[in-house]
Amino acid sequence: MIYMSVTIGTPLQPSAFKVLLLGSGELGKEVVISLQRLGVEVHAADRYDHAPAMQVAHYSYTLNMADAEELKQLIEKIKPNLIVPEIEAIATQVLVDIEQQNIATVIPSAKAVNLTMNREGIRRLAAEELGLPTSAYRFADSLESFRAACDDIGYPNFVKPVMSSSGKGQSRVKSFDEVDAAWEYAQTGGRVNQGKVIVESQIDFDFEITLLTVRAKNAETGEIETQYCDAIGHRQDSGDYVESWQPQAMTPAALEEAKRIAHKVTTALGGCGIFGVELFVKGDKVWFSEVSPRPHDTGLVTLASQFQSEFELHARAILGLPVNTSRHSVAASAVIYAGVDDTNLSFSGLNLALTNPNTDLRLFGKPEGFKRRRMGVATARAETTDQARELALETASLVSVKQN
Ligand SMILES: Nc1ncnc2c1ncn2[C@@H]1O[C@H](COP(=O)(O)OP(=O)(O)OP(=O)(O)O)[C@@H](O)[C@H]1O
Ligand SMILES: [Mg+2]
Repeated sequence: MIYMSVTIGTPLQPSAFKVLLLGSGELGKEVVISLQRLGVEVHAADRYDHAPAMQVAHYSYTLNMADAEELKQLIEKIKPNLIVPEIEAIATQVLVDIEQQNIATVIPSAKAVNLTMNREGIRRLAAEELGLPTSAYRFADSLESFRAACDDIGYPNFVKPVMSSSGKGQSRVKSFDEVDAAWEYAQTGGRVNQGKVIVESQIDFDFEITLLTVRAKNAETGEIETQYCDAIGHRQDSGDYVESWQPQAMTPAALEEAKRIAHKVTTALGGCGIFGVELFVKGDKVWFSEVSPRPHDTGLVTLASQFQSEFELHARAILGLPVNTSRHSVAASAVIYAGVDDTNLSFSGLNLALTNPNTDLRLFGKPEGFKRRRMGVATARAETTDQARELALETASLVSVKQN
């Protein structure tokens, strides 16, 4: 017997199938568009008005999602079928309760959201419970224990607040002289002033990848199966991605090991949806770095390379629908920064950027820019990843951001 999947009603009518997106950035915006195409009623929340995903959702809400009471009230008001966290700064205990009381399904699972919001949770799961290879690490919550952790791990090492993302508060410590400054910096960069940091030994990798891993139901049996996109290579600058490409060439042994690690960690986290599994690779050796239980910024390249982008894959998987992870093109993406701190920015040179028919753009529509804030992305298809990278970087550089 073929299993019966979700029934989607009519948006804005009593039968609507409702999704509540927590966090309304550029990745969420693409997820919303994918859900809208399938007739889902979308509610988007963020801490500020007119966030990218809010601009394409049916309803939007501005609130502090890290405030348990505010978040609970919103969920009770909307009564969504699915709750889709797009950021980590959320009162995750509320989601654990919501899932336990069967009020809504948390994507991919409350456990996954809870563990991955804190570097300690996911690192201990990966290294200590699942036995996956990672950098050596220590946790510290005072200057004194931090100094000891740095000496233990050695130099150079990486210091990251346990509650942070996009490189915030993160530094590479080259010697004991830099330890105190790294502690100070970590204290200002975390999401909540929890003070705890992870100290990681530096992995001397050849390259790093994101292995987009999808847990989706088989169309006939309804069993959850794991599928992988081709590996995405990327370049990070100060802990933030600047360009990515797909596929990243690697040895068959490394690819197999990458899939084994991704399978283990995503199975442990559970639920349906896409995961961005970040891995370091040297020859045949692979280390687990971290995982996001949602679309990944480096995966923006899949808008140009795959039949179903990571956003469509996520939308389908969370609805319990089958997915196709195959790639049709070699492609690359390059980030477009604001370059200035200002609101009400304008983007020009788009005709030049799009002259080559193998290029495309996404402008996110963020109401406020900062020097290093990502405002858009350029994608490009080509014969080789090197050519695609060059074209994507050129395309991004042809977009000029102007103050009004
Ligand atoms: N132990 C390590 N050894 C070598 N390089 C590292 C290590 N840890 C981090 N890096 C470098 O710093 C980058 C950012 O680290 P990480 O992914 O942990 O931070 P993040 O703040 O979560 O970033 P993002 O949110 O953009 O993924 C990595 O992609 C890698 O290039
Ligand atoms: Mg990362």
